[in-house]
Amino acid sequence: MTFQPHTIIEPFRIKSVEPIRQTTRAERAAALEAAHYNLFLLRARDVLIDLLTDSGTGAMSSAQWAGMMRGDESYAGADSWYRFEDAVRRITGLTHVIPTHQGRAAERILFGATVSAGDIVPNNTHFDTTRANIEARGATALDLPIPEGRQPSLQHPFKGNMDVAALEHLLATDRARVPLVMMTVTNNSGGGQPVSLANLRAVRAVCRQYGVPLFLDACRFAENAWFIREREGDWAGRSPRDIAQAMFAEVDGATMSAKKDGMANIGGFLAMHDDDLARRCRDALILTEGFPTYGGLAGYDLEAIAVGLDEALDEDYLRYRIRSVAYLGDRLRQVGIPIMEPPGGHALYIDAAALLPHIPALEYPAWALSAALYLEGGVRSVEIGSVMFGQQPDGSERAASMELVRLAFPRRVYTQSHVDYLAEVLTYVHGRRDRIRGMRITSQPPALRHFSAHLAPIGGTLLAL
Ligand code: F0G
Repeated sequence: MTFQPHTIIEPFRIKSVEPIRQTTRAERAAALEAAHYNLFLLRARDVLIDLLTDSGTGAMSSAQWAGMMRGDESYAGADSWYRFEDAVRRITGLTHVIPTHQGRAAERILFGATVSAGDIVPNNTHFDTTRANIEARGATALDLPIPEGRQPSLQHPFKGNMDVAALEHLLATDRARVPLVMMTVTNNSGGGQPVSLANLRAVRAVCRQYGVPLFLDACRFAENAWFIREREGDWAGRSPRDIAQAMFAEVDGATMSAKKDGMANIGGFLAMHDDDLARRCRDALILTEGFPTYGGLAGYDLEAIAVGLDEALDEDYLRYRIRSVAYLGDRLRQVGIPIMEPPGGHALYIDAAALLPHIPALEYPAWALSAALYLEGGVRSVEIGSVMFGQQPDGSERAASMELVRLAFPRRVYTQSHVDYLAEVLTYVHGRRDRIRGMRITSQPPALRHFSAHLAPIGGTLLAL
């Protein structure tokens, strides 16, 4: 019998390191005050472990850095562009590839070419920039997750799935107002939960029946492919690449932030089969992003993404990545911290509504918990709750469907001891949860308020010592 280890190790060794800085609680309390209790407004140097996002925060491989050195910076027709286009086509099979500087630029260009005022764009769950770009067109961004997706403690293998019956009902009654359907893999705002191929195919069938194009928000396509391999019978043991290709085969196009499963620090793309739509999108691209063979990116960025897209599909990498998030989930469960079940691909989501039942939704329990984790442990997370989603286009406010704190893991950056430290911080704060106070907003912009709003703890102290 050969040795069968239980430990899943980081499948890399570290060639370059970046120090992180310890601070005292008093320093962090002062930093929080200065940032108006908004973790987006902190200086990164005051953060010990930064789980604000997995977007653009990953470590590149030696192969990616080598690729950057051969970046061809020609304005038009650079070799780097052809390598990028080839890498995207090999995985997606989509005819037209349009580079953009990040995912939201792809969204703006796509919706600019397809969405009009009064339209409705359904999605399993829109990410905040997707929602905002649709609303900026005067249209409605409609979330249609399966009901299981809205119950944090429930176990279900594919909580990211779309409610196909709800989609069918919408198209049967309002087809003329729906220019396209989106599916987000994995479903970031819904807890980083995957979508099954069966669900994608069922959505596809309904879209075909009504003649509506289907687009994938593909930021985390590789992680979604891994979950399909682990959880969807027919696909067990198939390569993540085969599964990713099967996912893209179901859609008419995709938007992508290469800052996630592109393993790059910047970049994205828009891709589709439709020739006429591609022409209109390229015209818009030239206006604000750049010529269609670079789209706002340097040649070296195109190289980093071309290499990164393949690395994201590596089995050892995906196994380690998904396991490290699940490991933190195991540690938190052991001490009774309520998490979104099962753990997601890029992030673990804490159910702040369950953890802080004494704080009502519009006193922002997830925001308060996120601030407390920074105060006690120097950990930066992000609220996905009523601060992020409560603000309505008409200026009113409504509680979000869930109050979550997201701990998003940069790719290939932190090791198991960092995760053990996180478990300790969370356990400590959990032990003091009764003392955490709710928050109020003292100033906010008209949209996407979480990025810049100022808040203060109700009663003046967030968490008394
Ligand atoms: N779609 C999804 C599902 C995303 O998660 C993001 C970004 C975008 C689109 C936009 O891409 O940032 O390159 O413009 N999510 C990051 C996050 C910011 O923290 O989850 P972008």
